[in-house]
Amino acid sequence: MTVKLQLDRVSKQFGRLLVADDVSLDVDAGEFFVLLGPSGEGKSTLLRMIAGIETLDSGTIRIDGKDVTDLPPNKRNIAMVFQNYALYPNMNVYRNIAFPLKMQYFPPEEIEPKVRDVAKTLGISEILDRRVNQISGGQQQRVALARAIVRNPTLFLLDEPLSNLDARVRFAARAELKKIQRDLGQTFFFVTHDQKEAEVLSDRTGVLHHGVFEQIGPFGQLYDTPATRWIGDFVGDVPMNYIPWTESGAAGSMGFRPEWAEVSPAGSESATVQVAERVGDFTYLLCTTANGLRIYLRSLRSVDIGTEVHYTVNRHVFFQGGPGGDGGTTESGRPERHPPSH
Ligand SMILES: Nc1ncnc2c1ncn2[C@@H]1O[C@H](COP(=O)(O)OP(=O)(O)OP(=O)(O)O)[C@@H](O)[C@H]1O
Ligand SMILES: [Mg+2]
Repeated sequence: MTVKLQLDRVSKQFGRLLVADDVSLDVDAGEFFVLLGPSGEGKSTLLRMIAGIETLDSGTIRIDGKDVTDLPPNKRNIAMVFQNYALYPNMNVYRNIAFPLKMQYFPPEEIEPKVRDVAKTLGISEILDRRVNQISGGQQQRVALARAIVRNPTLFLLDEPLSNLDARVRFAARAELKKIQRDLGQTFFFVTHDQKEAEVLSDRTGVLHHGVFEQIGPFGQLYDTPATRWIGDFVGDVPMNYIPWTESGAAGSMGFRPEWAEVSPAGSESATVQVAERVGDFTYLLCTTANGLRIYLRSLRSVDIGTEVHYTVNRHVFFQGGPGGDGGTTESGRPERHPPSH
């Protein structure tokens, strides 16, 4: 694999707020990389630094092995797709897509085949004459992508491009985006705070927290073996459960997902149901243990509030140390599937 994008010890501070603290990252050519993190953690800032519209305090950014740190955006051969697409409402779809080529003084006879070609790729040939305020949100997304693709960039930077779509369209647009990236074989650097998008789209997900990557890996790895308790809480439909635990002489906590425990009358542990919430085929049970810890369990059957349930933890990860600083290690048990999407 060749490295497409390289961040080398990048730092950025706004006043006293450290948004990137010595961040290093390699994104491979053709990779779909998702930058995930809660709001305000510096995701857009990092993307803007890669695009060249935000300066670095220190560090180096390389694209295709070339140092672009001091290059203006138009010399980086990147394409950006923003949350609001920034399409020109008074132009039709054709002119929106053609716009970046016009800005680069391509002659009209060269522009037309390029626009028609990319429109065909994205299935929007039929709407080239329509104004962008007369097309659906999903179509607008494709127009924004078409406008990015038509310049034949080497790297795509996308900042929450799906967040403006309503839930149903977003579901389809998400799947389509993944297919487009696969078909193009291009490198996508995609920013979101939506972990479902990270799960569905990414080859690898990096979670930005307090200016550093708290963990980088395939989404399933973040879910199954979180590097820290913070990741265990952030990733997943419900936070990971933690119970004080000693392993090989080390004190810490055992972390387990609801589906890693089995609720049954024969279970070795017990807890009292406080809240029962039906999600898809399962009922999630927020319970309290005898020593007052709150944990989530998962049951196929609905359970009355106040009931004492028994459970056995079949699989867990171990976090050494107290609730603050901690490193996760994998433990026994068979792999299981994630909770159902909803
Ligand atoms: N130009 C600026 N000057 C000062 N502070 C800024 C500037 N741009 C961003 N910030 C601050 O830096 C932090 C990171 O902002 P950023 O937009 O990168 O976050 P984000 O992770 O993209 O958040 P969101 O998910 O809400 O889009 C925020 O606290 C923001 O207020
Ligand atoms: Mg942002």
